[in-house]
Amino acid sequence: MKLRNKIFIGVAAVFVLGFSALAVTVSYDSPCPPAPPLAAGAVPIRAITQRCYGVPDGLRLETIARPEPKEGQVLVKVRASSVNPAEWYGVSGQPRVIRLSSGIGTPKRTRVGYDMAGIVEAVGPNATAFKPGDEVFGGAGGAFAEYALAREKAIVAKPPNISFEEAAGIPIAAITALQGLRDQGHIAAGKKVLINGSSGGVGTYAVQIAKSFGAEVTGVCSARNAEMVRSLGADHVIDYTKENFTEGKERYDLILDNVGSQDFSDMSNVMTPDGIIVVVGGSKKEPFLGPISRVVSSKVAGGFIDQQIKFYIADVNAADLEWLAGLVRDGKMKTVIDRRYPLEETGAALVYLGEGHARGKVVITVD
Ligand SMILES: NC(=O)c1ccc[n+]([C@@H]2O[C@H](COP(=O)([O-])OP(=O)(O)OC[C@H]3O[C@@H](n4cnc5c(N)ncnc54)[C@H](OP(=O)(O)O)[C@@H]3O)[C@@H](O)[C@H]2O)c1
Repeated sequence: MKLRNKIFIGVAAVFVLGFSALAVTVSYDSPCPPAPPLAAGAVPIRAITQRCYGVPDGLRLETIARPEPKEGQVLVKVRASSVNPAEWYGVSGQPRVIRLSSGIGTPKRTRVGYDMAGIVEAVGPNATAFKPGDEVFGGAGGAFAEYALAREKAIVAKPPNISFEEAAGIPIAAITALQGLRDQGHIAAGKKVLINGSSGGVGTYAVQIAKSFGAEVTGVCSARNAEMVRSLGADHVIDYTKENFTEGKERYDLILDNVGSQDFSDMSNVMTPDGIIVVVGGSKKEPFLGPISRVVSSKVAGGFIDQQIKFYIADVNAADLEWLAGLVRDGKMKTVIDRRYPLEETGAALVYLGEGHARGKVVITVD
């Protein structure tokens, strides 16, 4: 055998061995360790924790110490939260590759949840925007709990015309819709916008936000959700179980793709030449890379089609929350609540969300 071939086989063997070792490492599930005892003097609160991976088995309702707000933080008494695919990925530890960052064997972070609405209980040093008693909504790490700490830059006043449950649906899903349509997709009045996956958390807000910009909106959903999506303002609805939108005659300026069900080249066929495809999410089913494979393929496809393909990670910030709160106050955006689960059934809420057929938002209520 030639030296060149020997080197090639050697490099390939090292690569295969390395990849196999990585796959085994990230696939290892450690047993769930017990909760540490509560420190003397701690104020006990109920919280959902995650000490090992698995939906719903990795989650427990525990009594933990109430946290104290630090610099720029606000302690919020949580009244409601909502679940997002991000928590499903984090709790299940899938796709496996995310464990390189979230923790090998067991998760590094034990508190779960982010979206929340509640009442300010206390403020930390140099947190000046809120005072105890204020009703707020936004993002707080560990929001599946009676109390959670929020950065004051990630919360705003709750609009008085909606409930805590409705407000708790907004943060990640509506910010994702807003930033995808406005910042990535450059939405404007009169543009033709297609929202693939218009009946889930992101999609139900996206339809309403796109209409508020004066766009002509086509929602892609199944027949059972068609009326709901129309009632949110969609001008046209395509039932994905009967019709493939990439085979239609319409040409779109912007596709907000929450689902990842279509090839980029097929979507390109139904777009204007300077159209934009905004990749929001992809399939959960691929166990190693999951939706990351959609991002990778978008980078490859970008070299072969005329239109731009963009991917982004939503950033929950006070300015955009305030923008959305304004839409709510003006009666132009509402939260569609599919199901409500009490805090102790957060695992069941994540199982339901993970099935991929939520109609709007799945909310966690906290007594
Ligand atoms: N990039 C980011 O920063 C970011 C932030 C948030 C979310 N995401 C991602 O965005 C995606 C959507 O999130 P979400 O909260 O809206 O999820 P979701 O609420 O779980 O979405 C469920 C909805 O998707 C619909 N759906 C399923 N298959 C479909 C298909 N083939 N065509 C059209 N609709 C379909 C379902 O309708 P049916 O029941 O009728 O099938 C259901 O109403 C997820 O992949 C998530 O990971 C990304």
